[in-house]
Amino acid sequence: MAKYRIAWMPGDGVGNDVMEATKIVLDRLALNAEYVPAEIGWEFWCQEGDPLPQRTLDLLKETDCALFGAITSKGKDVADKELAPELRGKGYVYRSPIVRLRQLLDLYICLRPCKGYLGNPLNYKDDIDIVVFRENTQGMYIGVEFAQVPEEFYSVKGTEKLPRDAAISFRAITPGCSERIVRAAFEYAKKHGRTRVTAVHKANVLRQTDGVFMEAACKVAAGYPDITFDNANIDAMGMWLLKNPLNYQVIVTTNLFGDIISDLCAQMVGGLGFGCSGNIGNDFAVFEPTHGSAPKYAGQYKVNPIATILATKMMLDWLGETDMAAQLEGAVAQVIAEGEVRTYDMGGSHTTLEMAEAVAAEL
Ligand code: IPM
Ligand code: MG
Repeated sequence: MAKYRIAWMPGDGVGNDVMEATKIVLDRLALNAEYVPAEIGWEFWCQEGDPLPQRTLDLLKETDCALFGAITSKGKDVADKELAPELRGKGYVYRSPIVRLRQLLDLYICLRPCKGYLGNPLNYKDDIDIVVFRENTQGMYIGVEFAQVPEEFYSVKGTEKLPRDAAISFRAITPGCSERIVRAAFEYAKKHGRTRVTAVHKANVLRQTDGVFMEAACKVAAGYPDITFDNANIDAMGMWLLKNPLNYQVIVTTNLFGDIISDLCAQMVGGLGFGCSGNIGNDFAVFEPTHGSAPKYAGQYKVNPIATILATKMMLDWLGETDMAAQLEGAVAQVIAEGEVRTYDMGGSHTTLEMAEAVAAEL
């Protein structure tokens, strides 16, 4: 029996291309694993009304972790139109499968390392090395939304002036979920010799929800006197990051702000071709590139697989295969430094698979 069972979820669009690429690298590493195909993606929405079928959730329970490519999501109207005719009008509602996975499996840490590898022509500045910890289960992602203000809300003080046609979204932040993500950020800093953790919020406006987050953050930070703790409003943080990216080491924040700030950080180290992500819980994790499914490039083997290869590196670390992870990162760094193999985003014309083969050749 193989040492690991890894759920293999290419999803759709370029998810297939980049997963095929990372398989080349995994085979070269000879990781002792069985890769178990798991169904997830737009086609399952269209055919079954669920892009994340129950059988996939069941299958995940029998694996150690999952590697995920990308999934197409389309707006409500298109989603309804593409649903199989016999399922239409039956109350099926599309919800992002990756957001559901994070919540259903309580993968509360969204870990997004953003490191500028030397020689990458897309680096905003050399030596950027920021790790984003995004709370992955609540905040603006709880999915409690109303197209119009429900009548009963008008009995709540402060809502009298809300127009009848206002759409409403709820944001939920608990002390417990805030503490565990901040603790994860500090533990990471401690383990990796990082000396500063920055909490990002909008507590001057979202006084209750970000008040809870910041109170929890300060409480946890007090337990790490050797690590500098500071905080910034999300808007100011956008400016500071562009101005002084080298000042930041570890950023910890709530779900939506983490979504935004991690794209900003990814862009500073090469864009979505380099953004990798780990959705990590206490005993399961799903690793993925941060980019979407880019349907127009699907099957063209054009997109950069490095994001997925780096997500695979994160998976190896999480599995405890730290030597293999370090080797893989070294190979990626080497290919970038040599600059001979570059995908289109890097100004080159090599294919997805050629990039993967170049990384495999370094191993
Ligand atoms: C991400 C993505 C997702 C998110 C989308 C695809 C739902 O942007 O992983 O950052 O918003 O979390
Ligand atoms: Mg995002």
